[in-house]
Amino acid sequence: MNLFAKVPRMKSITQNSTPSKILSGKVVTLLFYEPSSRTFASFAAAVKRLGGQTLEIIDPTNFSSVSKGESFEDTINTFEAYSDMIILRHPQKGASENASLQAMVPIINAGDGIGEHPTQALLDLYTIYEQYGRLENLTGVLTGDILNGRTIHSLIRGLSLFKNNTLYLLSPRELKLSDADRKEFIKRNISIIEIHKESDIPQNADFWYWTRVQKERFITNQEYEKVKNKFILSRDLVDKYAGKDTIFMHPLPRVGEIMPEVDLDPRAYYLRNQIRNGMYVRMALLALVLGGIK
Ligand code: CP
Repeated sequence: MNLFAKVPRMKSITQNSTPSKILSGKVVTLLFYEPSSRTFASFAAAVKRLGGQTLEIIDPTNFSSVSKGESFEDTINTFEAYSDMIILRHPQKGASENASLQAMVPIINAGDGIGEHPTQALLDLYTIYEQYGRLENLTGVLTGDILNGRTIHSLIRGLSLFKNNTLYLLSPRELKLSDADRKEFIKRNISIIEIHKESDIPQNADFWYWTRVQKERFITNQEYEKVKNKFILSRDLVDKYAGKDTIFMHPLPRVGEIMPEVDLDPRAYYLRNQIRNGMYVRMALLALVLGGIK
């Protein structure tokens, strides 16, 4: 909540183009082994909005000494020598944790394979909080690739920190929660209901959180084609199950699972507040972790 309290200041810095010195003198490495639009650009913009500078290493496997066989540990040690923080996206679950054991500078997990995407969860939680003024007593529908979707895993963890939340997880059976994740979530303070058909979507949920099926996590294209876009957010679905205040979210990119006909609905937050909140929340995080803001 301390982080959320900083967001209005970050919005004001951005919207008024106020020069900020919060990260003056700081250099942040963005080390992205996997493609990204939003996480990369919003972190880069966040550092610059706060007066810091970035070292931007995109696709290190091909464009750094990783291509010559340099180990992950040596790469982390190298970039920590040049910067005050490393923001890491990596295809392997646990990579950020490993990097944090290796480095003396703070590591921010910008997505680790099918593991977690904690800063996405922060911006998603903020978007819900901004709408409802609370993060408890909420009902949400999370749809798509529940098995591989790191944004979903992190959002469930985030919402489990608050009381009396119920999440419906709508997916093809092939993409339901892993047994390990289910066991862990059952122990947490959250009610999880796994569903596999649209007719089980509850009426008037507080939010819908759609996700794409993660093509890059499948071994064959055939397996991906079998399960992609089983559940499409369409005008028809909205009319059947959404309430007047239900907000529609998606971490993006979307690849066909939300029909463009929904985009202009005022409840569609995925191309509006949710994207913008990504930068504001990441600015607030950087200000707290690196900028000495209390
Ligand atoms: N939401 C998200 O992680 O998007 P990118 O992959 O574009 O960063």
